[in-house]
Amino acid sequence: MRNLEKLLEEYYKAPEIFQAGKYWKAHEDRIINEIRRADITQLRSGKYPIFGAFGFSELIYYYHPNTPIYIKRLKQIIRRIFITDKALLPYSLRLGDIREMAYNFCMAQGETAKIKSISEIEVSTFGNPSDLFEMDGKKYTMQFLNYYIRLCFAQKYLKLKGDETIVELGSGSGFQVEILKKVFPDLTILCFDLPYPLFLCEKYLSESLGEKSIIKSTETIDYTNLSAMEKKKVHMFGNWKFPILNNEKFDVFWNAASFGEMEPAIVRNYLVSLLNHVTKRLSIN
Ligand SMILES: C[S@@+](CC[C@H](N)C(=O)[O-])C[C@H]1O[C@@H](n2cnc3c(N)ncnc32)[C@H](O)[C@@H]1O
Repeated sequence: MRNLEKLLEEYYKAPEIFQAGKYWKAHEDRIINEIRRADITQLRSGKYPIFGAFGFSELIYYYHPNTPIYIKRLKQIIRRIFITDKALLPYSLRLGDIREMAYNFCMAQGETAKIKSISEIEVSTFGNPSDLFEMDGKKYTMQFLNYYIRLCFAQKYLKLKGDETIVELGSGSGFQVEILKKVFPDLTILCFDLPYPLFLCEKYLSESLGEKSIIKSTETIDYTNLSAMEKKKVHMFGNWKFPILNNEKFDVFWNAASFGEMEPAIVRNYLVSLLNHVTKRLSIN
């Protein structure tokens, strides 16, 4: 927990433009206090719904045979009153059918995108994900499959070869990084985020990819440039370190479901760093 306090100390000292916007400010103290007392080994169990705000939501679909009887009854009453003749699962589908369809969809999408098949990788079980299931002897969650689909979509445009350097702002849980590194192990990835998601993301990725793959935020906190960057590793940075990119080379900038949660001035500030980078690259080429 000392790492979290150190990150917070540096974050509070950072310029105002790097402090969370209104949306995140409203939850900040509650999230930080929850992290301080949380059992990190239960991160994905559903015990800490507030962590779902940045991606740690792995709840199982509720309408299936194992749903506790009182929830089933409640749902029956709600359905009878409000949605009289709508079946919640059409064609009497079971949870297992949906999972199988999702897995097969990933197989097809992976083939089209020409990337490593979903059947060759599996999800980490760290954090006790409640939505864990097996397909062909490997472990998955619906979230893992979702992030794989995202990569298949992005790959149509990015055409990654696998040795690139990717910068992600707002990495959240780190689930996208987990997929990226499991599909393309030689990628170098720089994750930037607010200190509290970053702390949990770092814990998660250290378990799912192995400690040796991660350069921790307590190490990068003193970086003034990227000369110490290690190829093929995932580097964790507090968001206030973003200007470090100004004079550096990288190949891809990744931001998902994140800029939309920031005020325009905050987004503009990040984009200025990127613009500096793009301008330099264009003038070099
Ligand atoms: C909804 S989560 C999305 C996480 C991840 N990109 C995904 O797709 O699952 C939004 C992310 O944006 C980050 N974020 C919000 N405001 C930010 C800011 N001002 N600077 C940096 N990151 C921010 C949050 O910490 C969080 O990790």
